[in-house]
Amino acid sequence: MDLEKQHYFIRKLHSLSGVLPIGLFLTEHLLVNSLSIRGPEAYNKGVAVLQSIPFLPFVELTLIVIPILFHTLYGLWVVYLAKNNVLAYSYYRNWLFYLQRITAIITLIYVAYHSYHLRIANALFGLEISFNTMTSVLSNPAMLIFYIIGLLASVYHFANGFSTFLITWGVTVGAFSQRVALIISGLLFFSLSFIGIQALFAFI
Ligand code: HEM
Repeated sequence: MDLEKQHYFIRKLHSLSGVLPIGLFLTEHLLVNSLSIRGPEAYNKGVAVLQSIPFLPFVELTLIVIPILFHTLYGLWVVYLAKNNVLAYSYYRNWLFYLQRITAIITLIYVAYHSYHLRIANALFGLEISFNTMTSVLSNPAMLIFYIIGLLASVYHFANGFSTFLITWGVTVGAFSQRVALIISGLLFFSLSFIGIQALFAFI
């Protein structure tokens, strides 16, 4: 395979990985965490079901960790290459494009910290993942703000990315279908943000 074809293939794979499996995982993660709205018992039961999945470390490694590492490393390369020309041409599509890069960096910082202080701390130091643990984390106002910013950035990145994914894969070709996809992205952004923020406030 020559270099250009290789690049084309990796770009398509990067695009796909953002929706499947990472975007699907993000959606599942927000929905399961929204069990906090139903109270501590429902939330802890949901966590227990997830923790009882057979071969969990293997499932997490292949379906979550490796795709996120690949998407992030290639994504950083794309951000590094991008000409952020939003100041020169302030069309809204340029802003969406620019925000896609900014939210990629915020998501990276947020996901790294979030995974470290919960999932990795659970594996290495036996930290219990429960409603009470989340309450003690989120009752710190600085942490709550950090979580809200991380949530909004990752949901924006996924929702806007979904409409550019449809372009990358040649699903939305004309101006009309691209506008419809953008409306669907907007709805996705508002509904996932609403669910996620409600879930965060339910812990405190
Ligand atoms: C919650 C985690 C993430 C999800 C669900 C996600 C999802 C997506 C989706 C669906 C796309 C659109 C693909 C396309 O335009 O064809 C995308 C694009 C992108 N992602 Fe992510 N992503 C995540 C994290 C990250 C991180 C941590 C980085 C790097 C720091 C990153 C960098 C990028 C870049 C640069 C693009 C634009 C690619 C382009 O325009 O060709 N993403 N992402």
